[in-house]
Amino acid sequence: MSDSSHTLTRRIAFASVMIIAAVAIGTYALMSSPVRLKTTGEALIGGPFTMLNHRGETVTEKSFAGKPMLLFFGFTFCPDVCPTELQVMAEAMKQLGSRGSDIQPIFVSVDPERDSPAVMADYVAAFGERFIGLTGSAGQVQQMSATYRVYYAKVENKDAPHAYTMDHSSIIYLMGTDGKFLKHFTYSTDAKALAEGIAAALGR
Ligand code: NI
Repeated sequence: MSDSSHTLTRRIAFASVMIIAAVAIGTYALMSSPVRLKTTGEALIGGPFTMLNHRGETVTEKSFAGKPMLLFFGFTFCPDVCPTELQVMAEAMKQLGSRGSDIQPIFVSVDPERDSPAVMADYVAAFGERFIGLTGSAGQVQQMSATYRVYYAKVENKDAPHAYTMDHSSIIYLMGTDGKFLKHFTYSTDAKALAEGIAAALGR
């Protein structure tokens, strides 16, 4: 073969390798994307927020620095899911005892229209004095919910107080002492499993 045909052969070979590589990378990206979305999605849960606690004081994520946070998002008029989950959280804290004495259980309202700090104060008191309730302006609640990937929506319901209820995701989040996401627990988790999961995630 002449020099020029060698060059052409090399060019074709090189082009073929590039196409195969591109297809392989594309296929890999397609095949691995659900997994990668899941793992990176979890790592991106949580972040800065500015809210009002149930005493009416402005708090941010820095207010809880150094303490693991156990968070649940809901609303005080919730007929079943929220009281159930908060009760499970309260019971898990009891079961953890001294192993969880620094953990801050937090109930975040997704219904600031009805959940004023005073309403939150009455509500969280029913689950123990350690609970902190967070609420705020519609914008503040929206911002914090978005960082935690929490879904919520107002739904008309003529039988509900003020003729509406709130749809919302029901996931408990455990954040580490550095404020970063550690683990989430789904709705069906009971108090024992929650306590054990928290202890394992915190290495206690
Ligand atoms: Ni609820």
